[in-house]
Amino acid sequence: MTEWQKSNWRNKPRVQMPDYTDEAALNAVEAQLAKYPPLVFAGEARKLKAGLGAAARGEAFLLQGGDCAESFEQFSANSIRDTFKVMLQMAMVLTYGAKVPVVKVGRMAGQFAKPRSAPTEVKDGLELPSYRGDIINELDFSPQARIPDPSKMLQAYTQAAATLNLLRAFSTGGYADVHQVHQWTLGFTESEKAAKYRDMANRISDALDFMKAAGVDSNSAHSLQSVDFYTSHESLLLEYEEALCRQDSTSGKWLAGSGHMIWIGDRTRQPDGAHVEFARGVLNPVGLKCGPTTTAEDLKVLMSKLNPANEEGKLTLIARFGAGKVGENLPRLIKAVQEEGANVTWVCDPMHGNTIKSSTGYKTRPFESVLREVREFFGIHNAEGTIPGGVHFEMTGQDVTECTGGVREVSDEDLSDRYHTACDPRLNASQSLELAFLVSEELTNRRNSLAVAAG
Ligand code: PEP
Ligand code: CO
Repeated sequence: MTEWQKSNWRNKPRVQMPDYTDEAALNAVEAQLAKYPPLVFAGEARKLKAGLGAAARGEAFLLQGGDCAESFEQFSANSIRDTFKVMLQMAMVLTYGAKVPVVKVGRMAGQFAKPRSAPTEVKDGLELPSYRGDIINELDFSPQARIPDPSKMLQAYTQAAATLNLLRAFSTGGYADVHQVHQWTLGFTESEKAAKYRDMANRISDALDFMKAAGVDSNSAHSLQSVDFYTSHESLLLEYEEALCRQDSTSGKWLAGSGHMIWIGDRTRQPDGAHVEFARGVLNPVGLKCGPTTTAEDLKVLMSKLNPANEEGKLTLIARFGAGKVGENLPRLIKAVQEEGANVTWVCDPMHGNTIKSSTGYKTRPFESVLREVREFFGIHNAEGTIPGGVHFEMTGQDVTECTGGVREVSDEDLSDRYHTACDPRLNASQSLELAFLVSEELTNRRNSLAVAAG
């Protein structure tokens, strides 16, 4: 294989990327970004890689979540805080079930560029280029709004930097104290229909009381007051990624400075394409979406390209088949991994294979399908003797109505109330937490059945 360079992706076939018309403007933006500081540092990416390696061995569990697409217009301290908060609540509930640390990774501070299933969109007879995320063009349905504008990369960088700054403050400034996080969880279980979750919340309370009594309190253990919270996004807009790529001074390796973890989407994982070429050279942990069209042959090539040294925690396979399709797809890919003796972390994205059009015309995802895919994912790993290493959700801390179902039942008719997503439908705060309780149950069942098997 030729030696990797951060710009070599330019010689490979690219898909899902904009054709910028103003080359001078594009070059100026790239030059500007190349002078800006990276958003993350190599040591952090390595620490996340170690955490993901632990998840692959069943010694940790990944919770990855956030917006489908971050938006310039909806950018606010409150929405960052609320998503961070609900993710910490979910992490606490998952830790309780898994009895291992939960690695927390936001789809945040860089999740701006979107692959689309169609290059154009038609409304009332007018055909326009598709919206590709706020870093590229605008959601508004007008010819002007849909022109790709390179200066949006600078705005995305600024928003990502401000988001990460706030996340870092929340992570260490006392906001993440476990006792406080638990208070929030209790609020959720007050609702009548959430009675079945109250029991687990009470057991978590007991455990915290015990730790306090035993002296493992927030004052004595700094680690109970602060958390590691990482960022991630799809590495789609390669001009932005290349411009933020930096050489690590200690190892000489290259870091994608745009976020701790980057992933390759289901539409851009061509083994000889531009996106794989870029991702194969960075030291960050890399995710790879695997869908029904991922072949075992492609997966084998991708694993050797994306993780040539077969490092633990380097490559996360994010399975997104759709409820009812896990059984026919996951075992054949697990087999490909085993045949190669490859180290991978298996994660379930139960969102992208379960998008449907509701009776009221909105793109939605039924909570039951999301849960069903998670259960199928756990079921297959239990049957194969392999390890379910984590979950990947599109979610928000806001009380939106984008996915149907859940204890606070969102119906097709309710979707129009607070449908705010710039792209795919997200679980709201209550649905996210409910799902965490249900995944936690799966983790508890798995631990119990492994204990019985071990006799
Ligand atoms: C996404 O994660 O928002 C996405 C587009 O996923 P996928 O590539 O799996 O379709
Ligand atoms: Co999405």
